[in-house]
Amino acid sequence: MFNTQKILNDFPILTRPGANGLPLCYLDSGATSQRPNQVVAAAARFYTEINANVHRGVYRISEEATEAYESAREKIRAFLNAGSTREIIFTSGTTEAINLVARSWGAKNLNSGDRVVVTEFEHHSNLVPWQMLAAEKEIVLDVIPVLDDGTLDLDVYRELLKLGPKLIAVSGMSNVLGTIPPLESMIPAAHEAGALVLVDGAQLVPHLKTDVRVLDADFLVFSGHKMLAPTGIGVLYGKETLLKEMPPFFGGGDMIRKVFLRSFTVADLPYKFEAGTKPIAQAVGLGAAIDYLNLLGMDQVAAHEHELTLRAIESLQAVPGLTIYGPLGGNRGSAVSFTIEGIHPHDIASLLDREGICVRAGHHCAMPIHDRFRIPATTRASFYLYNTEADIERLCSGLKKVVSIFA
Ligand code: ALA
Repeated sequence: MFNTQKILNDFPILTRPGANGLPLCYLDSGATSQRPNQVVAAAARFYTEINANVHRGVYRISEEATEAYESAREKIRAFLNAGSTREIIFTSGTTEAINLVARSWGAKNLNSGDRVVVTEFEHHSNLVPWQMLAAEKEIVLDVIPVLDDGTLDLDVYRELLKLGPKLIAVSGMSNVLGTIPPLESMIPAAHEAGALVLVDGAQLVPHLKTDVRVLDADFLVFSGHKMLAPTGIGVLYGKETLLKEMPPFFGGGDMIRKVFLRSFTVADLPYKFEAGTKPIAQAVGLGAAIDYLNLLGMDQVAAHEHELTLRAIESLQAVPGLTIYGPLGGNRGSAVSFTIEGIHPHDIASLLDREGICVRAGHHCAMPIHDRFRIPATTRASFYLYNTEADIERLCSGLKKVVSIFA
């Protein structure tokens, strides 16, 4: 049994009041999660006891800082079941990681007429970098459409694979619809067609156990701040054979082996892609977040969230005029987006705020999927391991109040 009361004790922010002095009901973990005391303490301990730059000093605390930073990398490797820490690159987040792949792998391997496949529900960060590259290199962007139930049109995907794409860039869980695409069949099909696969794991890795060897994705990217860790830290996992052949993304300190006045040679993996001073305390915080998730068990986290999500979908459907976008059941994620007839999503979010309830309204950095459903915006509730059934009850009674105000 998942002990949410014990978990809540680790998140003091969740016991502070929200608007109007009402208890805070945080339902926006899709945007950013909250951090437990253990993560805050690990980052604070780094600053108060260890702080020094990494890989640079021979003095004691610099060595300790390097050890803390590299031990976070090892925790991430183990969490993902990657073969080596050389496959774990620290980035500032998902966005930088995708741009890194586009600018490094894409710049080297994609040429005029080459095809990249994305989906209609991608976040802007898995669309715009490819669009920018497409404009520069005349690459063709193909799109897997989304069906009315929020799932991908896999017939079209199979047809697109016949055109010989070089890369499939797909979200592991839609941040709007909660859809989890069948990566277990999509990735082998892509490989069979000769394409590599990049999985945007921003909404996947925090919520579902992700084993890169089982998944067999070529690249997997995600952000720390959506999985209990500080902002400013994220990860690019890449297969070593691919990363080895890729040119560096940023140039600067730490990514070099030797520098001459007019040339340089690059450092080994993973440092080749880590120019400049990285967010060290944040990386240590990410390591602590992984410890926390491991302690709870990712399978338990996923089961708790799934139960809450199904309960939320059931209760939301009882709100008059409410439409949910995305799968209504089955294996789906905990982002639940909806509209209510005649009420603007921003008004819904503002009125819920008056009840102490935090939800996100807008296009959620995914305009094309809103265009697909011919709506400008949705209101989104997204759940994480610290949410409870009481949160769902508050959401639904808050929404019924909103509807009555507009009636
Ligand atoms: N991508 C984040 C979200 O879905 C910010 O809210």
